[in-house]
Amino acid sequence: MTVTAEAATPGSANLRDSIPFQPHVIDESEARLLVLEERLPKIDGNFVGKSVVAMSQCEPADIELLFKETDIVYREEQAGEATENLKGKRVALEFFEDSTRTRFSSDAAAGGDGAHVIGFSSRAGTSGDGKHESDEDTVKNMDRYVHLHVIRHPEDGFVPERALDLQHPIINGGNGAGEHPSQAFLDGYTICKLLGQIEGKRFTFYGDMIKGRTGHSTAQLLAMMGAAELNFVAPIELQMPGRIIHIVEGYGTRTTVTDNIEEVIERTDALYRLRTQLERFAKAKRAAIASMVPMVTTQLLDKGPDGIQFLHPGPEDKLNPDYTPEVRRDRRYKVLFQAEMGLSVRRALMRLMLDRANVA
Ligand code: NCD
Repeated sequence: MTVTAEAATPGSANLRDSIPFQPHVIDESEARLLVLEERLPKIDGNFVGKSVVAMSQCEPADIELLFKETDIVYREEQAGEATENLKGKRVALEFFEDSTRTRFSSDAAAGGDGAHVIGFSSRAGTSGDGKHESDEDTVKNMDRYVHLHVIRHPEDGFVPERALDLQHPIINGGNGAGEHPSQAFLDGYTICKLLGQIEGKRFTFYGDMIKGRTGHSTAQLLAMMGAAELNFVAPIELQMPGRIIHIVEGYGTRTTVTDNIEEVIERTDALYRLRTQLERFAKAKRAAIASMVPMVTTQLLDKGPDGIQFLHPGPEDKLNPDYTPEVRRDRRYKVLFQAEMGLSVRRALMRLMLDRANVA
């Protein structure tokens, strides 16, 4: 079952007849989010003081600026240089959802560059726990202590709303099934390191794209930076929201929507596997959804071009694995390199937002 970009044009009878998928229909919660996003400032060449919540705030020049600063940070890291660009700044990590990579790379990025880092990794131990303070109040009070926030929250609207009412900027560390822009930045930077460039390359997203927020942001970034092709591979229940497909096609990127990885693996310079976000589905649906997407194998990677790279934002659910143990040992497995790039990219982003960058 394949829907090509051509078939996915609005009003295509062909598409409506073939699968129950309407790329340009926006549901109520998406519409609410779009209204909020519209009110966010565009980066427009200057990250200073601006929250980074959604990819729609960015243009290619903003990404290039970030990647330039990241090159500097990466070189410093490689040289083992001690830096203090963020000295005198305080950063709050406010995680209302579990996290390993986003939280600890942000902590290492800020603290390792001289900032003072405070925060929490769940409501436990904050007044939001036993004293039932609202998350909004918690974050608004934290805002009086710091210069920058990194916030992750399970509700789609919480982070965009706070970006409009806090005094200090936020890095969106993941808003429900919405977006995760700093993950997109690090994915894009990793791809530049591995493939030399994004422009003209072909990418396949494989797994849960309906709830997988990293896919939403990364697909937009890749299209914005000139990706030739984006393939979205999943059964219909887990497919990429039509809104995101519409956006990437708007950048001139060819798209293929299919449930068959074999159809697109030959046209894949990097394969991006996504975890099935079981926690974001109703309990009754979880068992059916858990086993819908097969594991990536080395045999599958062998069917791709010689230089194919394998990426995954992490975490992999060990009870519901996304790839085989052989893939983990394979030369094409770049998942830990990707995590490592998160440190450099987030430090660069914080420097730009706090006006302590070397470039700009
Ligand atoms: C992801 C997230 O939290 O969105 N992880 C991450 O930040 N690297 C992906 C996931 O949870 O599957």
